[in-house]
Amino acid sequence: MSVGAARLLLFAVAALGACSRDDSAERRARLGANPTFAQVMQVADAQAGARRFGQCAACHSIAEGGADRNGPNLHGVFGNTIAQNSARFGYTDALRAQRGVWDERRLDAWLADPRRAVPGTSMAFAGVRDPIARADLIAYLKTQR
Ligand code: HEC
Repeated sequence: MSVGAARLLLFAVAALGACSRDDSAERRARLGANPTFAQVMQVADAQAGARRFGQCAACHSIAEGGADRNGPNLHGVFGNTIAQNSARFGYTDALRAQRGVWDERRLDAWLADPRRAVPGTSMAFAGVRDPIARADLIAYLKTQR
């Protein structure tokens, strides 16, 4: 087996072992210095994401039919058209001008730095710097639809 294939196998085994406790330090060590986005998504942990969602919950409900707060309800937002998750919410023109759906990459850029991803947005949130933390949040959003 080539070194590359062995490393890939090791990575796959390690990814399978990713469990529900917050082991982001462990996962970070396993991913190495410059993981690809796909590699980070492979170790994403939805349960850790559920805990991390605490920093969103002041502004966002996520239960189906939940009320809008400062931000729109986020149930089903993954895969949904941007700026359409809540029929009642008053989105900014800046967000409404975005085209397409919330996929992994767009959510990643948005959560890293909302005001950089969409200048003019009203989401007053500094962003999540850690790529693993963002992957966890995205994995969690995927489960809530
Ligand atoms: C201080 C309040 C606040 C916090 C905290 C916040 N958001 Fe938001 N969020 C908003 C607002 C306001 C909007 C609408 C932005 C606009 O219209 O420009 C929004 C929009 C969104 C959207 C787009 C919804 C759609 O229908 O297209 C997503 C996805 C989102 N937020 C995810 C998150 C996540 C995940 C977190 C936590 C990591 C978070 N937000 C933290 C206020 C917040």
